[in-house]
Amino acid sequence: MILEITKANSLKGEVRIPGDKSISHRGIMLGALANGTTRITNFLQGADCLSTIDCFRKMGISIENKTNEILVHGKGLHGLCKPKSILDVGNSGTTTRLISGILAGQDFTSELTGDASIQSRPMGRIIKPLTQMGANISSLKGNDCAPLYIEGGHLSPIHYQSPVASAQVKSCVLFAGMYTQGCERTQVTEPTLSRNHSELMLAHFGASIKSQGTTVSIAPEPTLEAREIEVPGDISSAAYFIAAGLLVPNSEILVKNVGINPTRDGLIRVCRAMGADMTLLNQRKDSGEPVADILVRTSHLKGTIVEGEIIPTLIDELPMIAVMAACAEGETIIRDAAELKVKESNRIDVMVENLSAMGVDITGTEDGMVIQGGKPLKGALIQSHLDHRIAMSFAIAALVAQGSTQIEGGDCVKISYPEFYNDLNALRN
Ligand code: S3P
Repeated sequence: MILEITKANSLKGEVRIPGDKSISHRGIMLGALANGTTRITNFLQGADCLSTIDCFRKMGISIENKTNEILVHGKGLHGLCKPKSILDVGNSGTTTRLISGILAGQDFTSELTGDASIQSRPMGRIIKPLTQMGANISSLKGNDCAPLYIEGGHLSPIHYQSPVASAQVKSCVLFAGMYTQGCERTQVTEPTLSRNHSELMLAHFGASIKSQGTTVSIAPEPTLEAREIEVPGDISSAAYFIAAGLLVPNSEILVKNVGINPTRDGLIRVCRAMGADMTLLNQRKDSGEPVADILVRTSHLKGTIVEGEIIPTLIDELPMIAVMAACAEGETIIRDAAELKVKESNRIDVMVENLSAMGVDITGTEDGMVIQGGKPLKGALIQSHLDHRIAMSFAIAALVAQGSTQIEGGDCVKISYPEFYNDLNALRN
């Protein structure tokens, strides 16, 4: 599907951001492993989270997806059944890596697969620690990617030094750590701190979690108890509306219900460094996660450097930040972000391809990109590569580009934000 988007004169109004993708996945997973019924509100009805629901249903968990709430009828830590068929994770890296940690602890075998993108994403990063813990996990094509075959059970605790700051790897090992034998804790140390939603939610369900610096540990055999979860809005989805409000002339947007967990709030820090007119209002907590409404107004942005420890806190927002940089005055350098190459697409190559098509001076590097901002963007044909974050970033670029922009595969936004184009159109006037 090709989607056409034209320049906007002004954006005004409010948008309520749908639930956080990372937290929605974890709510289903831990709800399934808890005793009793977990009620989740503001659950993200994106394709990725629906894949997680589908996988747990295949393992015998009854999950009711009602209009305003999800009810997960958990069967306890050892309540999963051998799946009736191959688990299909669709496009979801989070489902793949987190569920593998759980499957590694089961005394049944399982197989999981996903779409073409998933089948090319690196799974060696979870195969390695799970194998060290004693699971027999293999890549069926021998290329360290899905499809994966997992023979679980009899796990031992490890202290894993992860070479990448990845919440998916960390969560995978922690989830497997629940199924280890003995009384020792499973530990993960990462080079810099990645998002901590698993730690917060595991503690919320009653697991013994200890975090110190970039090391986190979990005790084996927790008794997880069902909980109420109100999922905060996803800052990664809010990013598009924050950028739209800053970039489009004569705009003022109230972006409501945004999760601002400090392990996810790098975008806010970068916007401020770029000179954004941005105010956090109504700060509060939902199920232990900090939340705010964010008021943004059109701003004259300037280039910046994005590097180091901030990278994991905004890894999914870097395509949007690159578009903001293209519209900002001066140079922006993004580095230490080699992980961009192994997301739903190679986001360094794809940003260079598409921003260049819009007339931007951008150079890809081994671990990021360098952008000379300030030249007007030209409408262009954009290749989304079926990557939802690329499609949404260029839908915003299109609002400030001369002429019209077509986005190939634009409906891939259904992965994380099915109502994205409707919410965006509602702000045009
Ligand atoms: C996620 C972690 C991040 C992020 C992804 C969601 C999670 O991936 O890019 O969209 O929910 O744990 P990595 O952990 O691989 O960096």
